[in-house]
Formats: sequence, C-alpha cells, structure tokens
Amino acid sequence: MRAHEAGALHGELGYREPPWLERPADVNALVEGLWSTTSEIAGDGVLVCGGVRATDVAQEFGTPTYVVDEADFRSRAAAFRDAFAGYDVFYAGKAFLCTAVARWIAEEDLWLDVCTEGELEVAVRAGVKPPRIGFHGNNKSEPELRRALQIGVGRIIVDSLDEIDRLVRLTADLDVTATVMVRVTAGVEAHTHEYIATAHEDQKFGLSIVVGDAFDAVERLLAEPRIEVLGLHSHIGSQIFDTSAFEVAARHVLALHRRIRADLGVELPELCLGGGFGIAYTTQDDPRSPQKLATSLTEIIRRESGALGVPVPRLSVEPGRAIAGPATFTLYEVGTTKLVRLDGGGDRLYVSVDGGMSDNIRTALYDADYACRVASRRSDADPILGRVVGKHCEAGDIVVKHEFVPADIAAGDLLAVPGTGAYCRSMSSNYNHVPRPAVVAVRNGQTRLLVRRETVDDLLRLDVE
Ligand code: LLP
Repeated sequence: MRAHEAGALHGELGYREPPWLERPADVNALVEGLWSTTSEIAGDGVLVCGGVRATDVAQEFGTPTYVVDEADFRSRAAAFRDAFAGYDVFYAGKAFLCTAVARWIAEEDLWLDVCTEGELEVAVRAGVKPPRIGFHGNNKSEPELRRALQIGVGRIIVDSLDEIDRLVRLTADLDVTATVMVRVTAGVEAHTHEYIATAHEDQKFGLSIVVGDAFDAVERLLAEPRIEVLGLHSHIGSQIFDTSAFEVAARHVLALHRRIRADLGVELPELCLGGGFGIAYTTQDDPRSPQKLATSLTEIIRRESGALGVPVPRLSVEPGRAIAGPATFTLYEVGTTKLVRLDGGGDRLYVSVDGGMSDNIRTALYDADYACRVASRRSDADPILGRVVGKHCEAGDIVVKHEFVPADIAAGDLLAVPGTGAYCRSMSSNYNHVPRPAVVAVRNGQTRLLVRRETVDDLLRLDVE
C-alpha cells in the first residue's frame, strides 16, 4: 500500500534526496520498469523508442513532445483484454484520448469510457461503435445526454438523482431507451492522493450506498419504462496498488446488488469495478500485471458473491493510466541549469526545460514523483542530485522533484520523462500562454504526428478583441 507524501513542496527545501531514490551505478542506463517496452539506449547513448531516436523526434517535431510508443500502448490494451477475458474492458479516455488512440482501442477490441461531450466526439470521429461507449460524469448536461442518447451510447453511468430526471425527460422526448449503470460510492477510502480517491462519502461522485441514495436511484430507474438498468458501477480511486480496497468495495456493492435482488426482485446482470490500477513512475512503485489483477479481482468477486449467495454478474473494468501511462515519455530540451547549495549540505542542480506544469501538472497537483534521463547522449560525468523544473512563472513549476542527473547536463541536452502518457496531455493547460506540445507516435522506426503542437497563433485566435 502506498501513501503519498503530504505537504507543500516548499516544506522540502533544504532536504536532500528522499530515501527511496538510489544513486545510479550508471547514469546512462534506463531504470527498469519505468520505460515503455521498446525503449532502449543506442551505442551513442541516445534514447530510442519504437525504433526512432529521440534526437530525430526533436529535430522533426521540436520539443516538448509527448512520444507515444504505439506498440507498447497496444500491447498493454491487449494484455488487459486477454487477462480480463470474459469481462468488458473499457479504456478510460480521460487518461489520454485522441482520434488515433480511440482507433487503437477499438482495433484492440476494447470498449471506451468518455466523460464529456468533447471525449464523446473524439470517439465518434474515430468511428468507435456507440454501443461500446460508456458515458460517465457527475454533472452531464442535457445537451450531452441528448447527444449520447441520439447516437445510442451503450451505457450511461448515472451519477445523481438529478440525472435521472433528465434521462426520463430526454428518453421520452427522443423516444429512445437508455441503458444505464448506477455509480455508487462504496464507502471505501483507497490509499491514494485525496483528490483522486473517489469512493469515500465526502466527495462529489456517485450515489451513496450508506445513505440509501443508490438503492432509491435503482428503484426509480427500474420503474421507468424507457430505462434499462444494467447494473452497479463502483470506481474507488486511481493509482491504487493494493487490491484490499477493491475487496471492501466489492463487499459493499454486492450487498446492495443482493438487496436489489431481494427487495425489488431484479437480478442486475452486470457490475463494473472501475479502473485505478497503479503504474510505476519511480522505483517506489511496484504495479501488478493485468493478469495478477484479473486473478485477484475475479477471486474477490467470486468469494464475495458466494458469501452473499448471489450469482456472479457480468463484470467490467476501466483501466486508463495502466494502458496509456507507461507508453509515453515527454521529450524536453534543457534551457538553463543552476546549482543550489542546500541548507543541510550538498547541492541540487536545477534543470529548466522548455515545458513544465502546463504539460505535466501532476507533480504540482498531486505531489507526484517522476524520473528522467538525458535522451540525446551518453555522459561520463558523475550523477548529481537534480530537480527538473519548467519555464512557467511559478516556483512550484516542477516536473521531476528528485532525480540523479549527470553533473554535466547542460543547455541543449534533450531530457526524457517516462510515464507521462496518462493525465499529462489530458490535463495540460495554456498557463502563461504556453502552447500545448505535439503528440507523436513511434513504431517500427516510423514517426506519426497524432496531435499537432499548438501555436501562439492558436491561442491568439481565441482572443476575439
Ligand atoms: N473509471 C472512472 C469512473 C474514473 O473516474 C477513472 C478515473 C477511471 C475509470 C480510470 O482510472 P485510472 O485507471 O486511469 O486510474 N488526474 C488524476 C487521475 C484522475 C482519475 C479520474 N478518474 C491523476 O493524474 O492521477
């Protein structure tokens, strides 16, 4: 189980490396488990991914760029599909979505979760079959629901009592049937950062099992002739390593499932366990393989269903990060460096790159840890404690809080930060009017631009005065 470090970044000033960070024996090596499967180091020390040299990516597309290892992405999707055979596996598009990725997901035979009109339209543009789309959100607007119903989205995950009213009105208006799941809060606090834990009571998502809203919602929905209830949905949080929280959640959700069966006489056919499977950002993290996750989740559901005397429903999961995250690294160029003497002794080398909190807000927002490596050459210099920072006008603009970098790292070097495929591009901003980076896929020695880099002109075009 992993608890995130709490507290403001400033509280760490004067503090050297954290206990988990090891001084590398070889600063040129790729730390195992952090990089996509086709990543390797060429003889001259250049990072190669998908058969493409990082230096070539930088030359062709500039920096910063998100570099997606297509084969790695697809193989993680396929690994979830195969490990969870018999389940429906939805890719959670909020982790990262563009037309190409939605197509990869469909080609790998996964289903797709979206949570806004924008994500839904990407899925539509990519040609994802609407019955294979799940539509989430705690505050879906009427136009969003209307569009979802018109195109025949396979499941709408009802998240509130207000949404039921909207659905009743809209299904009558459009003369359609809505197939829905009911998002419930299982009363579990998963051990992850508070902002990304979602199944305890005091947060915005879902209908409470404890208070009884979840049961009431199902009862109301079952009484509606134009609504078909597929089952309950529980998502307990994100970047979770321990399955014990899933176990407690399953117990609570299946108890509700049984109560619906007993009191309302309805056997809900499905149950969704959500996503949240953790990945390795640094050597602190030890994620489980999809196969191990599938084995334990299946065992948990079998055991809990058995104990409650209910048949096992059809199951689904919604991995986002575990598919998209490890497949991508962000490629930056170093612009400036600065050596700082720490209060407690020793030095820290600040390495400024040409992006920052606008392309990766996770460090500032969740106190997340990342790793990095120089991507454009090998170095014979000793490792020195470094901190990778961005170009934004803010001291908290940190990309990698703690990492050993070669002491000769300098302006013009390329720097790669692995594990940025999930919740980096999708949470990016234009803070300080910085345009968003390009997204480039690499595969079999070929590059392919998936999302072009924004330009300052793109930003100015929005300013109508
Ligand atoms: N299903 C539902 C209903 C979700 O809300 C989420 C994530 C997922 C699936 C996928 O979770 P994953 O497998 O990717 O952990 N921005 C945060 C994460 C927020 C997650 C929101 N919901 C971060 O950067 O860590």
